[in-house]
Formats: sequence, structure tokens, C-alpha cells
Amino acid sequence: MSGTSALEDRLQLLPNARRAAPRITEATVRSNTDLGASQHRLLLTGEWIARNAQAGEFVMITVPGGAEGQILLPRPMAIHRRYPDAGLFEVIFKVVGRGTRALASIAAGESLTITGPLGNAFSTPPDATSVLLIGRGIGVCSVMGVAEDAQLSGVRATMVISSRSPETAIGLDDCDELGAEAFRVDDAAGNSAPETLERMLRERFDTSPPQVVMVCGSQRLTVLGTTLAESWGADLQVSLEANMACGIGYCHGCAAPMRSRPDREGPLVCVDGPVFRVEV
Ligand SMILES: Cc1cc2nc3c(=O)[nH]c(=O)nc-3n(C[C@H](O)[C@H](O)[C@H](O)COP(=O)(O)OP(=O)(O)OC[C@H]3O[C@@H](n4cnc5c(N)ncnc54)[C@H](O)[C@@H]3O)c2cc1C
Ligand code: FES
Repeated sequence: MSGTSALEDRLQLLPNARRAAPRITEATVRSNTDLGASQHRLLLTGEWIARNAQAGEFVMITVPGGAEGQILLPRPMAIHRRYPDAGLFEVIFKVVGRGTRALASIAAGESLTITGPLGNAFSTPPDATSVLLIGRGIGVCSVMGVAEDAQLSGVRATMVISSRSPETAIGLDDCDELGAEAFRVDDAAGNSAPETLERMLRERFDTSPPQVVMVCGSQRLTVLGTTLAESWGADLQVSLEANMACGIGYCHGCAAPMRSRPDREGPLVCVDGPVFRVEV
């Protein structure tokens, strides 16, 4: 989930033949865990989503307002983990405004109206043996599904978990569980600058670079992804963020800008993305 300005007109649509039709469902909250640093992990029932969502897809959550008053628009959230056997899926969110504040106070046993799975997914090339996932902050959630798939298909996943501080790092336990190699960097430790990270990653992938680089959560890291993908001859995919009112292609409020053709509407982040290939 990063903005688009660093990408100019290089966004390409990824084909997604396996895309499942979204459904509107009532999901029961199994748990809503306060992770500290204003972050919450929400475990929800939802067989359709748990079984059919692909890596990088998202849901729209209708938030009951409670003390916040009526909240009309649903909020887009990445599907962080899928547990198809248990019919459960997980979302991690950061409290930033009215909707997420209300979501933070939802208790286990309450229900939420969820629409999903939505959007276009990441696509791991069939011949890939190694993928590099780069997530900044809450953006880690959008790439975690790729690490889940990699574990099932025997692909090596390396995940950069970039955050402001060690307390806000997301996904270390998930990487452990999924056998993904985690590269934890944060601003407080002074190792999250793109130049530092580039050095670390070039060293790490000196002899066998990944075939695909997938990024979410930071324009600076998207630029880094572009530099690395170019020099490795790797595929580059990025998950973008946009304000979304509907999430299903009706309102056109989420169109990505196209600098060279400002008179033309760009691709819709909700249905053409949020994951796009970037021409390198
Ligand atoms: C695909 C996607 C995946 C995401 N995944 C995650 C995630 O996993 N975890 C996480 O914490 N955050 C995620 N986000 C960001 C998250 O949706 C926002 O932080 C959240 O909606 C903020 O809601 P709020 O009510 O707390 O904030 P507020 O600032 O009070 O509300 C903002 C809401 O209004 C919408 N909005 C604002 N202006 C407009 C407009 N002009 N037109 C239409 N809608 C508008 C915004 O999209 C948002 O839903 C994701 C966003 C996208 C697009
Ligand atoms: S959010 Fe309405 S068209 Fe994308």
C-alpha cells in the first residue's frame, strides 16, 4: 500500500484468472488482540474468504460506529493470514481515525459485515524459486499471503519488515511460523534507509537473486525495489493504497493518476489493483 507518484506511468495490470467473486458475509470476531503501538490483530470467521482469497487481496469492513457515531463507508483492510481449514482469516490494523478507532473496541463474539475477497492479487511466477517481499509498517500485511503460498509450494521467501521502531514491527512471528527469512530493520536502529537496506540485500542475494520482488507500504522502498529488480532482471510487483469508498469498481474514486495522460482515468486501485506489475 503505497502511493503512486514514484511509479509514474509504469503500472501494468496483472492477469488474475483465479479471482473469486466477492461475497458479503457476517463474520464473527474470534479475537481482537491489542498488539500495542495502536495496532490490533483481528481474527474473523469467514470460510469463503479463508478458502478463496489470494495473496495481496483485501476485504471491506463495515464498522459499527458505537461511540464514534455512524460510519458510512466501509474500510479496506489487507487479508494478512488465511486459515482455510478452520474457516478463519486475519487482519492487522493500525488505529488512525474514526473507523479504526471503532474497530479497536470490537469485542470477541461481536459480528462485522465483510465484503471480500476483493482486488487483484500478487502473482508468483510458476518457475520462481525465491521471492523477496518488502513491507513497511502495516504494509507487511499485504505481502504476508505470498509467504503463506511460498511455504506451501516450497519457494524460498525473504521478508523485509521495516518499521519506525521495534515495537511497531509486524509479522515476525508469522515469518517464523511460515519459514520465511525475516530481515528486520527500523528507523530507531538506523538501518531502514533504502541505501543501507540495498547494501544488505545485495549482500544477501549476491549469488542467487530472487526472481520476483513484491513491495507494499512505502514509496522509497518501491523505488528501492525498482533498482534491485532492474539489476537482478526480476519481476516487480507493488501493492498500492488509495482512498476507497466502495472497493468494487463503482465509484471510481480510487483511480491511480497517470502523469503523462492527466485527461485519462488511470487504473482503479480496488479492482485493477491493489497489486500491479511495475515495468522495470
Ligand atoms: C487495499 C488496502 C488495504 C489496506 N490494508 C490495511 C491493513 O491491512 N491495515 C491497516 O491498518 N490499514 C490498511 N489500509 C488502510 C486503511 O484502510 C485505513 O487506514 C482506514 O480506512 C482508515 O480508516 P479510519 O476511519 O480509521 O480513518 P479516517 O481517516 O477517519 O477515515 C478515512 C476513510 O475515509 C476514506 N476516504 C477518505 N477520503 C475519501 C474520499 N475522497 N473518497 C473515498 N473515500 C475516502 C478512506 O479510504 C478511509 O476509509 C488499507 C488500505 C487499502 C486501500
Ligand atoms: S473504491 Fe470505488 S471504484 Fe475503487
